[in-house]
Amino acid sequence: MAKIGIFFGSNTGNTRKIAKLIKKKFDDDLMDKPLNVNRVEIDAFASYEYLILGTPTLGEGELPGLSSDCETESWEEFLPKLEDLDFSGKTIALYGLGDQVGYPDEFVDAMIEIYDFIKERGANFVGEWPTDGYEFESSESIVDDKFVGLVLDQDNQSSLTEERLNTWLNQIAPAFGLPL
Ligand SMILES: Cc1cc2nc3c(=O)[nH]c(=O)nc-3n(C[C@H](O)[C@H](O)[C@H](O)COP(=O)(O)O)c2cc1C
Repeated sequence: MAKIGIFFGSNTGNTRKIAKLIKKKFDDDLMDKPLNVNRVEIDAFASYEYLILGTPTLGEGELPGLSSDCETESWEEFLPKLEDLDFSGKTIALYGLGDQVGYPDEFVDAMIEIYDFIKERGANFVGEWPTDGYEFESSESIVDDKFVGLVLDQDNQSSLTEERLNTWLNQIAPAFGLPL
């Protein structure tokens, strides 16, 4: 088992694609292959000290899952299964996908649901991200004037994704003990 686990939910594949892009930057000793949360055992998830978690926002500011018309279960159904886990000692970085033009009033709102749920259970979050460079009205996923994780908008700003990703990975590298 590698040191870092990377898990995502995804409806149309964008969040999966980003997980794969991240994985490409690290060898198998450091990071295991990305897994969709709809087919993850809790024990496997809980075994990592370092986690990168990705989610799109669907519905109206919701986590992906059956309520937001995903074809399979996703974070909505997976998160409650983590209820009894103790995350203390774990370091977690979040990334979220959204559409700032189509959904300016609930831009990347789903990230905060994962953040709040897991933070309450003791995790140390890293990788907060500035709100500069995005145009939106409102987002729940802002704490202390920053997004709680990396925000990517494949619908409107896909040309910025690679650079944002590299900057963010460099930012979280020390906390993850990564050689970047
Ligand atoms: C039905 C639907 C609802 C959406 N709702 C939101 C939303 O509330 N907030 C947001 O920022 N993006 C929203 N989006 C945009 C998605 O988050 C975005 O397209 C994302 O890249 C999808 O990722 P996926 O391909 O991994 O599912 C929505 C997209 C769809 C199709």
